[in-house]
Amino acid sequence: MGAEKLPIVEVAATEKPLASGCRYVQTRRVAYDRLQKHGTRDAGQVEVALWRTFNSLVSGVRKWPLYLWGDTGRGKTFAGLCFRDVLANCAWIDLDRLCEILVTHDDGWWRALQVAECVVVDEIGGRDNVTWVDVDAVKKIADLRERYASRVAIYIGNHAPDRLKEIYGRRIFSRLCCGTTYELTGSDRRMA
Ligand SMILES: Nc1ncnc2c1ncn2[C@@H]1O[C@H](COP(=O)(O)OP(=O)(O)O)[C@@H](O)[C@H]1O
Ligand SMILES: [Mg+2]
Repeated sequence: MGAEKLPIVEVAATEKPLASGCRYVQTRRVAYDRLQKHGTRDAGQVEVALWRTFNSLVSGVRKWPLYLWGDTGRGKTFAGLCFRDVLANCAWIDLDRLCEILVTHDDGWWRALQVAECVVVDEIGGRDNVTWVDVDAVKKIADLRERYASRVAIYIGNHAPDRLKEIYGRRIFSRLCCGTTYELTGSDRRMA
C-alpha cells in the first residue's frame, strides 16, 4: 500500500460508548497503517473503504447494523475479526452456533449477545437448507440487537441483499439490511 494512502482511517479515542452505542478498544488515535499492531491480525489488509465505512458506523455517522456480504473467500470473516479486534466488548458467533443456542435455550449465550456492545454474526444464509431454526435464530438475534443495543451488529453473509430477501423473507431482510450494506468484491483470496 502506498504511503499516500496510509493515514486515512483513524480509530478515535472513546472513553464512553458513542452515540452509536459501541467503543473502540483503544484509548489513543491509531492511524490505519498502525492498526495491525493493535489486533491479532494484519488489519492493514482490509480495504480502506471498508475501514472507513466501519469507522463511520462506530462514530455514529452511518446507520447500524452493517450487512457485509460478498462471494466466498473475499475476506469477510477476516474483516469481521479485524473489527472485533479493535472494538471493546464485541461478541462473535456464527450461524451454526446461533442455531444451536436457539434449540438448546442457552440463556447464558443469549444474555451475552444482548449485553455485548457489538455482535458479529458470521455465515448468515450459509446453510444448504434454510430451516425454521435458521430463520428463527437470525430473527431472534436481530430483534435482540434492535431492542437492547441500538442495532449495533455486523451481519456477514454470502448473499446479496436481494437474494437475502428471497431466502429469509422481507422481515429478516429488513432487520439485517436496514442500516449499512457493504459488498466485498475482488478475487477468492483462498485461491491466491
Ligand atoms: N485482505 C486480505 N488479505 C490477505 N488475505 C486475506 C484477506 N482477507 C482474507 N484473507 C485470507 O483469505 C482467506 C479467506 O478469507 P475469509 O475471510 O475466510 O473469506 P470469506 O469469509 O469471505 O469466505 C483466509 O485464509 C484469510 O486469512
Ligand atoms: Mg467467512
